[in-house]
Amino acid sequence: MAETVRPLIAGNWKMNGTSAELPELKRIADGAEGTRSNSPYDALICVPATLVDRAVRTVAGSPLAIGGQDCHGAENGAHTGDISAAMLVDAGAASVIVGHSERRADHGETDIEVMGKALAAHAQGLTAIVCVGETRQEREDGVAMDVVDTQLAGSLPKDAAPENTVVAYEPVWAIGTGLTPSLHDIEAMHDHMREQLRERFGAAGTRIRLLYGGSVKPANAEEIFAISSVDGALIGGASLKSGDFLAICAAMPAR
Ligand code: PGA
Repeated sequence: MAETVRPLIAGNWKMNGTSAELPELKRIADGAEGTRSNSPYDALICVPATLVDRAVRTVAGSPLAIGGQDCHGAENGAHTGDISAAMLVDAGAASVIVGHSERRADHGETDIEVMGKALAAHAQGLTAIVCVGETRQEREDGVAMDVVDTQLAGSLPKDAAPENTVVAYEPVWAIGTGLTPSLHDIEAMHDHMREQLRERFGAAGTRIRLLYGGSVKPANAEEIFAISSVDGALIGGASLKSGDFLAICAAMPAR
């Protein structure tokens, strides 16, 4: 039986957001604020790197944390256009997404690179949100769990712990498509991943938060959050609108 962990509801703004969207972020922070005293979850929005500093100032004093969407595996150096973990920390980020399937697809990121990014994040005190998930073809071929096992084994560093790592299961075919796996399939995958984490990290592996991501909306959040091995969500499109994001937050039951 897995231990109860404090859920995390995380938004991923992807390549969306300029200063014009800061008032929307403020509405999310204010809505999260309203649940502070008895909030059953942590809330986080991962904004574009250009917005981290201003986002942090916009939500100051609220329970909403701000994160980045990627960092380089190196501490610093000749990597034009890249962002280091230290830069994100300097801007006020608390977390960073690494290995999102869009990074894996658009930039050819491999498991070993994703592990390097997670290690770089940890070295700077950032929580790494490590993403894994199968493609449609892989699910149809019946190898979804094998694919996720390989990604987990290859992307999660040895030092992964509940304090510095979150894992997000995001089937590639569910991202931005409006499609989601059946509740049974989400549960089966999360239970399987929990077992993998427990085998590798022991008791600590039962407390690493395991998020579901891919077309989470106000309409399906409640049934997804009812799955005991789902410790929260990573939300793309629906995190851009305060009403949607807060409705998803409100669907999280007390655990
Ligand atoms: P989506 O994106 O909620 O828009 O499907 C999820 C993600 O990519 O994290």
